[in-house]
Amino acid sequence: MKTTVLGCAAAVLGLAALGPAMGQDRSAAEGIAEYRKMLEDGNPAELYEAKGEALWKQKRGPKNASLERCDLGKGPGVVKGAFVELPRYFPDTQRVQDLESRLVSCMEMLQGLNGAEIAKTPFGRGEMANVTALATWIAAESRGMRFNLPQSHPEERKSYEIGKRVFFYRGGTHDFSCAACHGEDGKRIRLQDLPNLTKNPGDGVGFAAWPAYRVSNGQMWGMQLRLNDCYRQQRFPYPHFGSDVTIALSTYMGVNAKGAQSIAPSIKR
Ligand code: HEC
Repeated sequence: MKTTVLGCAAAVLGLAALGPAMGQDRSAAEGIAEYRKMLEDGNPAELYEAKGEALWKQKRGPKNASLERCDLGKGPGVVKGAFVELPRYFPDTQRVQDLESRLVSCMEMLQGLNGAEIAKTPFGRGEMANVTALATWIAAESRGMRFNLPQSHPEERKSYEIGKRVFFYRGGTHDFSCAACHGEDGKRIRLQDLPNLTKNPGDGVGFAAWPAYRVSNGQMWGMQLRLNDCYRQQRFPYPHFGSDVTIALSTYMGVNAKGAQSIAPSIKR
């Protein structure tokens, strides 16, 4: 983790120099693509998918119930296609929710688990690790499908507008916004391409790639953790798990990605 912070700080200083037209750029990009291909054979995300599917079907919690009646937006128990339409508005919680926050709601409503406690649990631990595994499986069930977030409910449109504003909001010690790193084409920090998330970055890029297995730390990351880490890179305080602001950012990126194909769960450096 520490090395990433230092590396990023150094790399960010050089951001302006990282134009798309550099001579060595093509071969570097090809090298990265090759490396990614190699990693794709045997993506450990499969282990999390299996765990997530088992958790979905397992009777657990004080109510000794499974999640098989959980409504992810397409009706109770419908998993296929749910991922590419999230975040969306849910009448029962009266909130726009992303996949991870919705899963916590279902764990609370159906299984009687304590949602507030889960939201406070560090990533990778206890029930939070279960949320990530569930999200991994549910995303996998929509692999190859195209993003099509609903925007018919006023709260969904509001979420998009808030997300857009947050994306461009500058602050912190370095006066960064999300757009500082993700607002132009052709940017890169070290080996990481920085997709332009203010528009549709294309199939399997950005929003369409997470949850992802991170080779660098051997962990499965959902979008909530992805955003948490970008808040760190932005030198902002960490956002709360499932907070409106993180969901709004996901709505913004998800709507922008309309028509892009999901490759989640993917594998990343
Ligand atoms: C200081 C630069 C910086 C800032 C500011 C920043 N990010 Fe990132 N972001 C990165 C880097 C670097 C990566 C790739 C990380 C990696 O692979 O290790 C990344 C990756 C991502 C990805 C995944 C892209 C993909 O194709 O896998 C998303 C989505 C994302 N950021 C969203 C955001 C949002 C939303 C914000 C604002 C809250 C933000 N980022 C702020 C540097 C930044």
